[in-house]
Amino acid sequence: MHYKNDIFLKVVRGEEVPRPPVWLMRQAGRILPQYRELRASLKDFKELVETPDKAAEVTIQPIDELGVDAAIIFSDILVIPEALGLPYQMEEKQGPFFPKVISSASDIESLYSAEDAEARLQYVYDAIKITVKHLDGRVPLIGFCGAPWTILAYMIEGKGSKTFSQAKKFLYTEPLLAEKLLDKITDASILYLKQQVNAGAAHLQIFDSWAGLLSSEQYAQFSTKYIGRICSAIKGTGITVFAKGAMNALDDFAKLDCEVIGLDWTMEPDFARTKVGDHMVFQGNLDPCVLYASPESIRGYTIDMISRFGKKHIANLGHGVYPDTPLDNVKIFVNTVKEFKYNT
Ligand code: CP3
Repeated sequence: MHYKNDIFLKVVRGEEVPRPPVWLMRQAGRILPQYRELRASLKDFKELVETPDKAAEVTIQPIDELGVDAAIIFSDILVIPEALGLPYQMEEKQGPFFPKVISSASDIESLYSAEDAEARLQYVYDAIKITVKHLDGRVPLIGFCGAPWTILAYMIEGKGSKTFSQAKKFLYTEPLLAEKLLDKITDASILYLKQQVNAGAAHLQIFDSWAGLLSSEQYAQFSTKYIGRICSAIKGTGITVFAKGAMNALDDFAKLDCEVIGLDWTMEPDFARTKVGDHMVFQGNLDPCVLYASPESIRGYTIDMISRFGKKHIANLGHGVYPDTPLDNVKIFVNTVKEFKYNT
């Protein structure tokens, strides 16, 4: 596939570029009036996710409106639990809710197989195919999944939580069952990501949103290990691992079979570089709240971030863009990166 704008893929491959590529986590949806309009014409979030034509349309909106260097497929990490047999509901203003959760060995036994889960996600592969066709090589498309720990956390807790104490309790009280479930999620995620690549995804990102809730030891045992299995199973497509709050895992991440490490805003670029070494690209890590500040501040913080990372960097936020971020401020961020030039 030939891309008209391949600055993102070039950086992933370790090639020289004049400036960092830029995109925003959660850029599809939320902040765009075009998204809200389309969303309002449908029953709910899930209908949008499960209707390939519409999902493709929403995926392309930020490319047209913001001019970012990569698209990310409009979907959700929670499609994996659903495909395994735990449907989610997306409650207006409240977030996800699972009527059925995992609490025992038999609950895990009764889940669908990884192969069945893979087949039940055809609507995502269809959305990717339609998106790639309509993008027509303008920018590459990023596919994604949740990290097994973050997915397990939702499958046990059944909803969002500040502490995910039920999920963490499961790790402490039923570690063997937790590993069994993590294995299953990992197998399904590998098949799912491979199908996203077959459908046309040019890069993949693994989101470990709840990494920061685990101790270093637990994180190594219940998360990095499974992320590592996913990375090693994918060949020939670049992977970004974004684990929010996983500062203590950077040493282990250095050994992953992936190209890019996503950093949140608490992680200092020099510190991360020392931990990870020179062989990987970093992505991030502007605090999403900077985008509430004045235009001068947004420009200042953005240039400061780019300068501190130096090369081998993909400009992004340190987490998803917040829904109430003014669109003009998002544009200032994107344009500041696009106008930047590395000195040689
Ligand atoms: O990045 C993109 O723009 C692609 C689409 C995308 C969505 N969710 C769409 C979405 C991606 C990559 C995700 C990932 C996701 N989903 C994560 C990991 C990233 C992160 O932010 O930590 C998590 C934890 C989820 C689970 C989830 N989905 C929650 C907790 C919620 C409710 C709160 C929220 O973030 O809005 C969702 C809903 C959701 N997923 C929306 C969108 C556009 C908002 C729903 C709506 O429009 O009604």
